[in-house]
Amino acid sequence: MFGARCLLRALRSCSSAPCPRHKPSAKLSVRDALGAQNASGERVKVQGWIRSVRSQKEVLFLHVNDGSSLESLQVVADSSFDSRELAFGSSVEVQGQLVKSLSKRQNVELKAEKIEVVGNCDAKAFPFKYKERHPLEYLRQYPHLRCRTNVQGSILRVRSEATAAIHSFFKPSSKIKVPEENFFNVPVFLTVSGQLHLEVMSGAFTQVFTFGPTFRAENSQSRRHLAEFYMVEAEISFLESLQDLMQVMEGLFKTTTMTVLSNCPEDVELCHKFIAPGQKDRLEHMLKNNFLIISYTEAVEILKQASQNFTFTPEWGADLHTEHEKYLVKHCGDIPVFVINYPLALKPFYMRDNEDSPQHTVAAVDLLVPGVGELFGGSLREERYHFLEQQLARSGLTEAYQWYLDLRRFGSVPHGGFGMGFERYLQCILGIDNIKDVIPFPRFTHSCLL
Ligand code: 4AD
Ligand code: MG
Repeated sequence: MFGARCLLRALRSCSSAPCPRHKPSAKLSVRDALGAQNASGERVKVQGWIRSVRSQKEVLFLHVNDGSSLESLQVVADSSFDSRELAFGSSVEVQGQLVKSLSKRQNVELKAEKIEVVGNCDAKAFPFKYKERHPLEYLRQYPHLRCRTNVQGSILRVRSEATAAIHSFFKPSSKIKVPEENFFNVPVFLTVSGQLHLEVMSGAFTQVFTFGPTFRAENSQSRRHLAEFYMVEAEISFLESLQDLMQVMEGLFKTTTMTVLSNCPEDVELCHKFIAPGQKDRLEHMLKNNFLIISYTEAVEILKQASQNFTFTPEWGADLHTEHEKYLVKHCGDIPVFVINYPLALKPFYMRDNEDSPQHTVAAVDLLVPGVGELFGGSLREERYHFLEQQLARSGLTEAYQWYLDLRRFGSVPHGGFGMGFERYLQCILGIDNIKDVIPFPRFTHSCLL
């Protein structure tokens, strides 16, 4: 999605009003047309899809949307235009004069001089009906068309805004973005995480990140798992404590969210109002409180003392399940909570050994958030050659990971990093229950519609 802000340029190209008739109309996005402060008859051209048609005795009102904003542009045409052609869903190009609107509902409207139907829409066959609010599950059946609805439009604009906000979160302090992997002439596998490559890069650049598609053969139809999802990952060199890592994680969540809230308030509001009532307050609560920190051992204690019966009995050494994560977040007053220091036996070879006893743990961290559960996973990495060598030997990976051991032989530094599931992030801020509704083309076990 381009955020072209061409209004000023476009209006300037009209020079001072009124423009001569033969002058070509400046093309405006709906967003820019709606933002025109002093519309006074500038001749413009708007292209988009008809969201509503209302015919009165002598005038015809159309609402045209081009995806640039939630709000559509009102087009006023006289009744000589053929309203049968101008159907809900059709694509149109409208030329006319941008004028102040008499109605309080909008600032400006487009007085049509020419309306061209670019593509007809068979409204009867079109799966979405005018004025109907279709459930998200229904829209999911039409991955090729659902982006034309208000709700999907809003979600995708937020997605786009959040993507940009994440890039700018990492950009200012000269953090390096590592490109995603490409094809090679040897058997390769889709990546489940860019972490190990980021670790390579963190041997030369002290702060690196990547943000791209990630693939997992998750045999899960759950509302928070996809086979292809997007992950934001960061790796920071010379980082020695989980505390410092958690600060970056909390900063990423809060800064990105504040940017999204200020750049697309209407889109966020639509989701909060119609899909997740109460979410606005829940999100504010998350933003204004410091995230909490508990250890895995404390988490297990909390779960053991819970009055609730869990399907999986909580026990030191066992994984935390969704039901446990949900309980912990509730227990923490619906404030995101970092769970740190997990059992060594539960975690991968690269996590840093805490050398504690009798309960042997590693410096791992997960961030659990309301409504979603695990949103981030990260750790300090084992930078000590001999510790890593032992872990690799235990996992039978010594041969394959000589290159990884090399990173510890040649100028090793303490470092750590994390990954944030981007779709889960969008679910969390917007209050969207199912992950399949926050990605344009959801792919999950037994389903790859597009
Ligand atoms: O906890 P995970 O597996 O962490 C890693 O992959 C680390 N190597 C990242 C790192 O340290 N650089 O995944 C990170 C996050 C999870 O917390 C979750 O939000 C998301 O990615 N995630 C998924 N999102 C959607 N569908 C799935 N199948 C997901 N699996 C993980
Ligand atoms: Mg994880």
